[in-house]
Amino acid sequence: MVQKYVYGTPFETEAVTARIDRAKGGSVCGEVSLDDGFCFTCALEDDDVVYGLGEANRGINKRGFCYVSDCTDTPHHTEDLQSFYGAHNFIVVSGSRTFGLFVDYPSKLTFDIGFTRMDRLSITCERADLYLYVIDGETPYDIVKQFRRMIGRSYIPPKFAFGFGQSRWGYRTKEDFREVAEGYRKNHIPIDMIYMDIDYMQDYKDFTLNEENFPDFPAFVREIKEQQIRLIPIIDAGVKIEDGYEVYEEGVKNGYFCKREDGSDFVAAVWPGYTHFPDVLNPEARQWFGDKYKLLTDQGIEGFWNDMNEPAIFYTPEGVREAAEKVQAFFRNPAGEVSNMDVDVLVEGLANNEKDYASFYHQVNGQRVRHDKVHNLFGYNMTRAAGEAFERLDPEKRFLMFSRSSYVGMHRYGGIWMGDNMSWWSHILLNLRMLPSLNMCGFLYTGADLGGFNADASRDLVLRWMALGVFTPLMRNHSSMGTREQECFRFERVEDFRHIVEVRYRLLPYLYSEYMKAALEDDMYAKPLAFVYPQDAHAVQVEDQLILGDEIMIAPVYTQNAKGRYVYLPEEMMFVKFMPDGSICQEMLPAGHHYVDIALNEVPLFIRKGKCIPVAETAEYVEALDTTDMKMIGYPGSSYTLYEDDGIHKDYDNPANRRILKS
Ligand code: GLC
Repeated sequence: MVQKYVYGTPFETEAVTARIDRAKGGSVCGEVSLDDGFCFTCALEDDDVVYGLGEANRGINKRGFCYVSDCTDTPHHTEDLQSFYGAHNFIVVSGSRTFGLFVDYPSKLTFDIGFTRMDRLSITCERADLYLYVIDGETPYDIVKQFRRMIGRSYIPPKFAFGFGQSRWGYRTKEDFREVAEGYRKNHIPIDMIYMDIDYMQDYKDFTLNEENFPDFPAFVREIKEQQIRLIPIIDAGVKIEDGYEVYEEGVKNGYFCKREDGSDFVAAVWPGYTHFPDVLNPEARQWFGDKYKLLTDQGIEGFWNDMNEPAIFYTPEGVREAAEKVQAFFRNPAGEVSNMDVDVLVEGLANNEKDYASFYHQVNGQRVRHDKVHNLFGYNMTRAAGEAFERLDPEKRFLMFSRSSYVGMHRYGGIWMGDNMSWWSHILLNLRMLPSLNMCGFLYTGADLGGFNADASRDLVLRWMALGVFTPLMRNHSSMGTREQECFRFERVEDFRHIVEVRYRLLPYLYSEYMKAALEDDMYAKPLAFVYPQDAHAVQVEDQLILGDEIMIAPVYTQNAKGRYVYLPEEMMFVKFMPDGSICQEMLPAGHHYVDIALNEVPLFIRKGKCIPVAETAEYVEALDTTDMKMIGYPGSSYTLYEDDGIHKDYDNPANRRILKS
């Protein structure tokens, strides 16, 4: 049961799609104080577990840290980081009392989950204008399903988006893209997508193409597509200020950009230099910006990634001026107002500065709304702009779309990737732990930059990370310019990489089927063990294994130089290893703790007792997969319901999409 409590005058975020009436009574499961903004508190018992928060730091169990929902472009995902790119204000407390809380509030919100006091949960924000939803249920899993029904069906990408994708910031020319396509095709490493980062644009102008490098873009899109590879360009939030640039001129003329208090267009520097932000919270401007994607779909493009949409700000003219004044004051009087200690803050504080976020406005249905009050909705609405435009463009066709920034509600329009991680072993684990939390909040199509974005990746790190990536709906290797090249074919013994990506394609019919079932049934694709084995006291503590779909458990290796790992089996399972020679090892393991050997070029999974999964022959791209005669592995005598559709259109409810396969 869901109870909805209204405080003050909430902003309509449209996160929730179900009609839920205001609660007439009931309890909010804690204390609410409105004395100083909004504050919810409740006691936590020793054994209570707290799940949720989507794209957030630390464990699957979120206890012991303070998390801040405040969408931020943040390149250092260290253990003390409180805010990521998304804001997903849904948690489930499980234990002495089990309930879910969704705080629909679009600005900065703090979840202190047993940090200040180990026995207290407190949720605070500056203004008491919000909806608080309290969800009761038998188990955390049941609460999640209720929440998911409230917020509407998750985004469903086209099937090709379940293939492997290669990306790198720095691909510039046709030759760069051809080299990548050739590197994969020549080495017979399956691939379906190559991503175009900002350098494909002319001077980082959205919806343009570098004139020198891409004179006939449609022909180039076709050329790559003939190799069964799709090009997926990036779109950034900021629109470059430049006379003669159509998007800029139209936006200015029609008043579609965010404004300063004095009514002038707000200016922020991002990759293109000075830009304006499209006012995607204004429905008219959102439609206008969304329709711009057509400039690229008309040239054969079928998917995009939306970036810098927290929105990221490198600096503003006002910020620079203020910093300059402070620096001058410092030089005039080094012992004065600005102390030596503050000097680096003068410049450090320029990016993503709170003052800047409080200095521009949106037009929402005739009302002027200051950005900082709705900050967490920008990426959501930028991606919604695209999603709504695709709907107008071709209501039957699915487009690939994922975003960096997000809020609950955006999960209906696109997926997300987990942002600028590092080539660190600890980030493999962070990637794994975010998956179920994101699924709880509706974000099913997701994955991290495999191999790590920043820093140099070692061969073994990329292999181990890709072996986890086999199971993430978005399987993309991406890295930053200036780092070691980490495309699969750049390393010695390419066959090991080929094998891992091949396993993805062999499992793709199963993974796609489980993704689709999760999306269509408001379910989770990746679950904590405790959701499936609620009676098992040990399962709750497992932070490095997941249940995927209904049939399998994954337990990737995430430590360097390890030759295997410990796993915990809540019940008897079939341990399966995809071996580099294409064979599949299967071994029954009893419930309990085990050490399993897993070489760098093997992909492990576990099949749950009494279940089986289909495995296809591999293929070099998704469309070439043959699902007519798949091998079934797992428990003899079991059966599996395969969901399969054309992967292009939206005929989801057709009964012909489901068929039973027997092992
Ligand atoms: C941001 C993105 C990253 C991209 C880079 C250049 O840092 O998160 O993925 O490569 O911008 O566009």
